[in-house]
Amino acid sequence: MVQKLRIAIQKSGRLYDDSVKLLSECGIDLRNVRERLRTESDDFPLEVFFLRDDDIPQYVEDGVADIGIVGENVLYEKNRQAEVVEELGFGKCRLSIAILRNQHYDGIRTLKGKRIATSYPFLVASYLKQHNVEADIHEISGSVEIAPGIGLADVVADLVSSGSTLFMNGLKEVETILQSQAVLIKNKDLSKEQLDLLDKLLFRIKAVKKAKRNKYVLLNAPNEKLGEIIALLPGMKSPSVLPLAETGWSSVHSVLSEDEFWEKIEQLKAAGAQGILVVPIEKMVV
Ligand code: PRP
Ligand code: ZN
Repeated sequence: MVQKLRIAIQKSGRLYDDSVKLLSECGIDLRNVRERLRTESDDFPLEVFFLRDDDIPQYVEDGVADIGIVGENVLYEKNRQAEVVEELGFGKCRLSIAILRNQHYDGIRTLKGKRIATSYPFLVASYLKQHNVEADIHEISGSVEIAPGIGLADVVADLVSSGSTLFMNGLKEVETILQSQAVLIKNKDLSKEQLDLLDKLLFRIKAVKKAKRNKYVLLNAPNEKLGEIIALLPGMKSPSVLPLAETGWSSVHSVLSEDEFWEKIEQLKAAGAQGILVVPIEKMVV
């Protein structure tokens, strides 16, 4: 029997779309995704389980799944023995403490003796302990943001992404407990075959991530400016330079990373580059 790697991903919710998309960008398209129970891929020896995100750390710890995609918020709340293999760069959010907008806040001591509603009792308790503040934590499983409005709690600790949920409920953020994103996790005791499969998958994930951080840039340059322009461009090794049909001009091709992108484009323009085209890269293997 061919060994397969079993991956647990979220069945529905904030990470579902991006998890399936990442696998697809890695060349792994899933059969019968609509049923969202269990499926396989024809392109890679992968078996996929769709689970509630809250259960994923435990399934990976127990070895029911070999690997999983889960938010750091859930992983650290569940406090399970699963190793983080790679940060995936999506599902970014933070776990924050928020109070009613019209309430006065004078540092973390303000929370002393308050009732805090949250779905993250472990992380909230650790945070309060670390800051030597005693408060009363009420665990609730959803709709945390309405707790102060209905008199269930004075304070909430909840996930914030755009901030619109807090805003709509008249709440303001006062403390950040954790910054979170989706991560790939693995069971501690994978076999040699499973680790080899995981390496193959990781190789693809890294190529996809790298491509997203970089853009392919094409531009035209007068030959007398080439030296200056090439000096601005890193390229994977060095930029490609091709002569244009019009004498005295060249076409320059290179790769630019997101972090320095706008700054470089301005410098290139100032150095005499024209007709600058920027193209997304699908995969990048270096
Ligand atoms: C979280 C959180 C808020 C919302 C915040 O819920 O509980 O309701 O997202 O996002 P925003 O800052 O962009 O408004 P989630 O979507 O994870 O669903 P859940 O409440 O079922 O966990
Ligand atoms: Zn959830």
